[in-house]
Amino acid sequence: MLDLDAVVLAGVFASVTEWISGHLGDHPAKQILDLGSGTGTGTFALLSRFGDAQVTALDASAEMLEHLSARAQHRGLAQRVQTLEADLDTGHLPAGPFDLAWASASMHHMAEPARVLADLRSALDPAGLFAMIEFETFPRFLPDDIGLGTPGLEARLNAVADRKREEHHPTVNSDWSARLASNGFVVREERTFEINLAAPLSDDAVRYARVTLSRLRDGMSEELSAEDRQTLDALLSVDGPDRLELRSDLGVRSSRRAWIASPVS
Ligand SMILES: C[S@@+](CC[C@H](N)C(=O)[O-])C[C@H]1O[C@@H](n2cnc3c(N)ncnc32)[C@H](O)[C@@H]1O
Repeated sequence: MLDLDAVVLAGVFASVTEWISGHLGDHPAKQILDLGSGTGTGTFALLSRFGDAQVTALDASAEMLEHLSARAQHRGLAQRVQTLEADLDTGHLPAGPFDLAWASASMHHMAEPARVLADLRSALDPAGLFAMIEFETFPRFLPDDIGLGTPGLEARLNAVADRKREEHHPTVNSDWSARLASNGFVVREERTFEINLAAPLSDDAVRYARVTLSRLRDGMSEELSAEDRQTLDALLSVDGPDRLELRSDLGVRSSRRAWIASPVS
């Protein structure tokens, strides 16, 4: 899922790293921390933008980090990546100093973001930056009326998913500008980055739609009406006549919110 995310997000992450580079100005990004790196979507975008950088990819999941290391090896980038398994709900960040810290779709997973931000402030070089990215709107793929079932299927799915997400991750929709400001950071700029891929989608983007919608279906079978379940099953069938792969109206629409912040000295 995260690897498909990387394919779909490649353009957005290129824009975000370019934006960060403008804010860094003359300060070289030599030591970078990718906080909650997952399988390395951000790590590889950062390595590509900042040619002299070493990235420390930190995550609680050994499995994600193994995957990231294998990708780094495969791309000839192993010398520039160090992985660090750490659970930030119980442990602390490495001392640094880091020129840049990056956290994409990971801060809302932290049980105590204030503690992580306090650690991060100490781990950053005084002239360093923290770039944080969160989902603004989760990906949508279908038009409102897909000619099957009752119109509005995807809006109903996402309403349930949003509710569940808030239950599991209470900070997911919080005011991150305020959190940054009250935990030792000055927000220099915040921006929304849009993802808008029109039909016809690449095979990878169609797979991304399938994986995303399958995960939604698996996570909420109880909450859906029988009709919506049936429609979703028809779209996700592997060989049925209404399967996603046969549609010519699939797109990807999503947006990410990003913040660039400096540590208060
Ligand atoms: C939605 S993924 C985002 C991964 C990656 N940054 C990306 O943009 O593809 C969230 C990541 O945060 C990691 N994570 C969640 N809680 C964590 C914690 N307490 N300490 C360290 N990593 C954590 C997860 O293992 C997962 O890899």
